Amino acid sequence: MSGGGEGKPVSPEEITRQAVARFDQTPDPRTREIMRALVTHLHAFATEVELTEEEWAAAIAVLTATGDITDEKRQEFILWSDTLGFSMLVDALNHRAPSGATESTVLGPFYVAGSPLRPHGADIAEQEAGTPAWVHGRVLDLDGDPIAGAELDVWQNGSNQLYAVQDDNAPDDHLRGRFETDAKGRFAFRAVRPVPYPIPDDGPVGAMLKATARHPWRPAHIHIVVRAPGFKSVTTHIFDAESEYLDDDTVFAVKPSLLRRFEPRAADDPERPDGIEEPWVSLDLDLVLVAGAERAAVADVGRTH
Ligand code: BEZ
Ligand code: FE
Repeated sequence: MSGGGEGKPVSPEEITRQAVARFDQTPDPRTREIMRALVTHLHAFATEVELTEEEWAAAIAVLTATGDITDEKRQEFILWSDTLGFSMLVDALNHRAPSGATESTVLGPFYVAGSPLRPHGADIAEQEAGTPAWVHGRVLDLDGDPIAGAELDVWQNGSNQLYAVQDDNAPDDHLRGRFETDAKGRFAFRAVRPVPYPIPDDGPVGAMLKATARHPWRPAHIHIVVRAPGFKSVTTHIFDAESEYLDDDTVFAVKPSLLRRFEPRAADDPERPDGIEEPWVSLDLDLVLVAGAERAAVADVGRTH
């Protein structure tokens, strides 16, 4: 740059050009590609909306508040990613399921690794938690052949809307458990009918939802991670097809193939599982895995509450 003070004023486009070019010497090609694209799109965003200095300062305050509220039990940055549809975009880019395979969705903040391995047919509710649900089905490959020894890692909320990690009055293993398929690929467990619930909305993400006239609700669902040797693991939800909020899930995680009907059953239905003496629901569920290398264990990045 020459001195002297003469010449044209520096344009916004010139600032962008210089900032992008500053990454040209990045040794790692992938880091170079990501940093150039990040700066290009960040500058394009500010240019498109003609960002004011007050708005820039407000954005810095929001990021600071997001850092302040984040700790080992609350991950507000991921909540931003979830509520901006970014988590589902990254998931879709990384897991393009072939037709017929069980589709993936977000993990969410309430996954806790190390759920107890429970026997076939066991109840995951360790205390009263709502309408009993009998969940049963098979884990299959894309040809429809059963997968023996697959593992289902299950967690859900109860009628009080809470997951066990959010509920001081629930035992740690309430409403969660792992199950293995038998030689015919079958699994079964007792659960409860899940209910819609709001995501944590007392922080910066909640303020964004309020300011943009969005609600914090998610439709009723059961979370399942399915793993089997020789197959790609899938992190998914099964949604209650009759739930509210299926069309406007605040984290964009609903996929039509994941909707299932919870079939109402009478208290005296002869098929009722042992121990059920009240009206219940049943859920018939086949899960389909794609052959391939086992994906690494679910990354628990401190999202639990
Ligand atoms: C959940 O389903 O548990 C969840 C997912 C994303 C954000 C909040 C909750
Ligand atoms: Fe959930």
